[in-house]
Amino acid sequence: MKWFLLPLVVVLSFSSCKEAPSNAVTIPVQGLVTENAMVVSARKEASAIGVEILKKGGNAFDAMVATEMALAVTYPYAGNLGGGGFMVYRTQFGEIGSLDYREKAPLGAYRDMYLDEDGNYKSDSSKYGGLAVGVPGTIAGIFAVHEKFGSLPIEELLTPVVELARKGFAVTQFQVKRLEKFGPLFKEVNHQNSIYTKSYQVGDTIKNNALANTLQRIIDHGRYEFYHGETAQKLIAFVQSNNGILTMADLEAYDVVWRDPLVFSYKDLKIISMAPPSSGGICLAQILKMIEPYNLDSLGFQSLESIQVMVEAERRAYADRSYFLGDPDFVEIPLEELLNATYLENRMQDFSFEKATPSNAISHGTVVPHESDETTHYSIVDTFGNAIAVTTTLNGAYGSKLYSNELGFFLNNEMDDFSAKPGEPNMYGLVGGEANAIAPQKRMLSSMTPTLIEKDGQFWMSVGSPGGSTIITSVLQTILNVYEYNMTMQEAVNAPRFHHQWLPDQITFEPDSFETSLINALEKKGYSTEQNNTVITSKVNAILALPNGRLEGGADRRGDDTSVGY
Ligand code: DON
Repeated sequence: MKWFLLPLVVVLSFSSCKEAPSNAVTIPVQGLVTENAMVVSARKEASAIGVEILKKGGNAFDAMVATEMALAVTYPYAGNLGGGGFMVYRTQFGEIGSLDYREKAPLGAYRDMYLDEDGNYKSDSSKYGGLAVGVPGTIAGIFAVHEKFGSLPIEELLTPVVELARKGFAVTQFQVKRLEKFGPLFKEVNHQNSIYTKSYQVGDTIKNNALANTLQRIIDHGRYEFYHGETAQKLIAFVQSNNGILTMADLEAYDVVWRDPLVFSYKDLKIISMAPPSSGGICLAQILKMIEPYNLDSLGFQSLESIQVMVEAERRAYADRSYFLGDPDFVEIPLEELLNATYLENRMQDFSFEKATPSNAISHGTVVPHESDETTHYSIVDTFGNAIAVTTTLNGAYGSKLYSNELGFFLNNEMDDFSAKPGEPNMYGLVGGEANAIAPQKRMLSSMTPTLIEKDGQFWMSVGSPGGSTIITSVLQTILNVYEYNMTMQEAVNAPRFHHQWLPDQITFEPDSFETSLINALEKKGYSTEQNNTVITSKVNAILALPNGRLEGGADRRGDDTSVGY
């Protein structure tokens, strides 16, 4: 069944222009609408804990601390203590900024650490087990946020999360399936059982006392506990006994970075997104700037022409990503040049509606599609008018699969986001170059795109997504769906998505969501398409400020994602 035949999303069957044609179903599908404040995250419990903090008078930053940790309890797939992330903020006074709490390569890491003696890439070693683990940044992240902006004591923010971990949460259908799929791999990597190797039915309760104890120690001893204290020591012993190279010196040296966000305009929108070490903001800016002259609304929603324009802009932006981008603390990124209007205009000069531009005309390389993986995004707006967009990750689903029974959490496999060998694709099929080579203490390039948008000087949208390389194009489409095609926030999130990332040279479509005639028309113009082996794993969560001052949540129908507010 085509997605637009589902009753929930009927309204999207129109939209070749801003006005719905007369035969369209015009009842808009709206997400949760609230008066004051909202949290949209991957789990109902995590959104609810954030909202409880907001109701108590806490601000969006307080709610972040609680929501981030509640996701580690209820959504271990991506929510984490053992990973890292990015937060973009806009305060009630209009100040903007961003926090980089991305993982770093351990001090003992080196450029060819995932190559064998013949120079072949041992791709499993950057994905599974101790060697894949980067120095975790999440706990440093929440403490940095709390120190700068928090208004309630840490104890008040995290005690409900400790209680949640002890009381347990109900297993959902999605979780049953994921644990069925990954349980055997957890066993293989860890050589032992854990609460996540058991088999569960929908509605069963998972309690995580080990994690509750870890969180309680963090409440008692603060950030110190994770980077210097008992938890740090246990963590290092555990990773090292699993072939990892993390040391106490790595944890002690870890710090977050407050960075200037990447700010640019698209028509009358001011877009505030994550700068390097994420590629998200730059790629989003390049794509939007390249498509700006084309009047997408008159080309039509997901029409042949609008898909061509978006795909060709995506192809060019991802080619630049691969060559130029890496950790700005290690490599020079020609930011101004990459965002220069003439440069971007020239990039699109060889595009024609007649025929696809082959990716090897822009550069070359052959890569294979990747497996599906996880990260998670949440958006929060408080009653004071502070807004944040946060994307946090273990990288792959359950990260390196390494799970400490003693500490109650999974460790990331973020090292796979480096380019282990120039020209070799990582798990998202992304190829990278020198700029993203491994070096001690360096941050691996990310695609995470937590984004805030202003319209007429006011907060308008908070948006972001997981999905590896598809994050950027998912955020892009969600913004355009609302701005160009007048969709509600929920409709924009519901709408099916497509993706191009330069290499492999193909457009990936969400399965069973696009008309065969459209696919055929694209093929005729020389585009390769893929609908089955799909890489679209994005789950967009977003909040839109409505003209009447209320907030509308868009929680992704593709997961357990839920908007809660008041
Ligand atoms: O930082 C990045 O770009 C990746 N580690 C994100 C991974 C991800 O989104 C997986 N989710 N599906």
